[in-house]
Amino acid sequence: MRQTIRLYLMLGALLAANFTASATEGMWLPHLLGSLNEKEMKGMGLKISASDIYNVNKGSLKDAIVSFGGFCTGEIISSKGLLLTNHHCGFDAIQKHTTLQNNYLDRGFWARNLREELPNPGLTATFIVRIEDVTKQALAGVSASLSEKERQSAIDKNLNGIKSGAVKESWQEVLIKPFFEANQYFLFVTETYKDVRLVGAPPSSIGKFGADTDNWMWPRHTGDFSIFRVYAGKDNKPADYSTENVPLSPKHFLPISLDGVAENDFTMVFGFPGRTSEYLPSNAMKLLVEGQDPARVGIRDAALKVIDGYMRKDEQIKIQYAAKQASTANAWKKWIGEMQGVRQTKGVERKLAYEARFRQLAGANSEYGTLLDSLNQLYTDLAPYAVARDYYTELVRNVEMLTLANSLVNMIQDTRNKGEDKYPALRDRFLATAASGFKNYNNDVDRDVAAALFDLYFKEVPSNKIGGEGYQIWMETNKDGRTTANHLYSKSALTSYAALKAFLDRPYATVEADLWKDPATRFLIALRNGYSELVSKPYDAIVPDINRLQRRYMQAQMDVLKDRRFYPDANSTLRLTYGKVGGYAPRDAVEYDFMTTLDGVMEKYKPGDYEFDVPEKLRELYASKDYGQYGQNGKMPVCFIASNHTTGGNSGSPALDAYGNLIGLNFDRTWEGTMSDINYDASICRNIMVDIRYVLFVVDKFAGAKHLIEEMKLVHPKKAKVAPVRKKAA
Ligand code: ARG
Ligand code: ASP
Repeated sequence: MRQTIRLYLMLGALLAANFTASATEGMWLPHLLGSLNEKEMKGMGLKISASDIYNVNKGSLKDAIVSFGGFCTGEIISSKGLLLTNHHCGFDAIQKHTTLQNNYLDRGFWARNLREELPNPGLTATFIVRIEDVTKQALAGVSASLSEKERQSAIDKNLNGIKSGAVKESWQEVLIKPFFEANQYFLFVTETYKDVRLVGAPPSSIGKFGADTDNWMWPRHTGDFSIFRVYAGKDNKPADYSTENVPLSPKHFLPISLDGVAENDFTMVFGFPGRTSEYLPSNAMKLLVEGQDPARVGIRDAALKVIDGYMRKDEQIKIQYAAKQASTANAWKKWIGEMQGVRQTKGVERKLAYEARFRQLAGANSEYGTLLDSLNQLYTDLAPYAVARDYYTELVRNVEMLTLANSLVNMIQDTRNKGEDKYPALRDRFLATAASGFKNYNNDVDRDVAAALFDLYFKEVPSNKIGGEGYQIWMETNKDGRTTANHLYSKSALTSYAALKAFLDRPYATVEADLWKDPATRFLIALRNGYSELVSKPYDAIVPDINRLQRRYMQAQMDVLKDRRFYPDANSTLRLTYGKVGGYAPRDAVEYDFMTTLDGVMEKYKPGDYEFDVPEKLRELYASKDYGQYGQNGKMPVCFIASNHTTGGNSGSPALDAYGNLIGLNFDRTWEGTMSDINYDASICRNIMVDIRYVLFVVDKFAGAKHLIEEMKLVHPKKAKVAPVRKKAA
């Protein structure tokens, strides 16, 4: 008897351990923290309550967090609307104000007063006023018998009704989004400020220190921050840009802790994570890391090799391709990390074990048990199309001639739909975009990229996923990427702006008829037709079934695994994640510490190098150890890592201490942990933050912008807790 009870208890513990994700996994909805997370967070060290984090009746932490332009996160750090985000989030804005005379990217920018702050048309900051569960209303009248299409249109109708009935002020907006694979719906009332001005940015040699070589890596030494200010109308409400606008007076702004972090400190990251897929079945994960990632990485590998070669030997090309190269390399490196991380932590095997247990609890022959098999089968069916789809998408994305041909074909189709009389307007808009593209374009680079990518594409993609016309051109050009590329680039009108303009500055009918005669456009059309018939169509035919089963599998997991706490996948809505400061051991014999210092910046310093140069002023401050109140034991902390579960979009998010004070600025993840989007593992997943003391040090000591420091509220939460030391009697 005793024996059985023990066995039973042990089994229970085992199951619980396997189903309960690590305490640091999860991107939680702020309005549900009280019921789902508060207890655990307090156990981990949180000193405030869930209602200090999210509260609709009084100012709370959430009122200091904004979606920055819809692609990053920012936080308010003064009573006058000062906003902190990453350098790479403000990069576009900084670049737009940059000229050769005022090279803010190179030398940094610091407004000395409000008048010098620079407007950025189109840049926004969005606050979340309130979050509501509207699942019941959204799904009213929706039954299982509806097709996916019918279901969606029923829901859309419901959502429109909810939106128009929502209580809000005239300057606010309402947004409703699906969660848990559209099993639940939440409504967000938001306020979007449209006058966001640039206040300060360090030189790239600080804000982008380490560039691509260090990107996604630890140890890291980047001061990845920039400062903006939110402006409002005189009534403190959102207003279009105007010189009459005044700095925003926020409901809450974050106090800044000067006490730094220690190992195992509790931390939270509050922001707008973009996209994760944590509830995929095993076959979907397999498809990603064994099919799709390798395809995308392969294409970008080949493209980057060519581009890097040119950038190294040609200064002009280096400038032209810098931004493109950075964005191509960013995802490329992330996918490599994702494949490695999943392999190393046996992600697929873990999924399989999870599924076995799910099946056991659900009953193998129950509706839920068979559902999982069907879903996995669908991903197996999808696999060849998904991989071919990625090859095609990456080919057209990375060969700019094909990208251009593709938008040209789209423009012509658009004209066909809207009528010939619209041609001049559509053409001019197309040419304007093309003109700015050609500024950062070099034919030799693109031709060499094309040659390499054609070889890869026709080798890796089966001909029955390419189609006759495209394959025929490949055969006619000797089945050789170089020959195909030469054929396209020597005769196409798409190789220069002048030629393109001449080609399009003719009567519409002629242009349309001649599309086929241009070798580049013809090649694109041939590939595109084949793709849409042989890849895209069958792919799109499977996706609705996947969506339907993925939705039911999500619900099934929530029904069957009663002990597991579920958080919805990221979808660019406000989330809180929490974890602990700490290093990690990514592989045998390698162990990483949790904090870097200015010493490491100097170790990496390479005079004149475009990634690892260090500004003179910073070297002087290092030599004199002039760190002011920001140093710690004679060192200047730079970055630190913790086990917060973050993803793209969390860049610029505040890292907060147990009291809700700002201690850092999130900007990246470690390479081995980029798989956290599909397979979070607390043992090696770490987010990377700039230590807030480094930010303040750069603002104060490096840039001399003391007036900004004076606007902020600096606090000492740890020191305040330590009992005052009595002087020993002599
Ligand atoms: N990896 C970070 C993110 O995904 C930083 C990217 C910007 N830095 C860069 N070197 N490209 O956004
Ligand atoms: N660097 C990412 C961003 O820009 C953050 C991440 O993916 O961890 O949002």
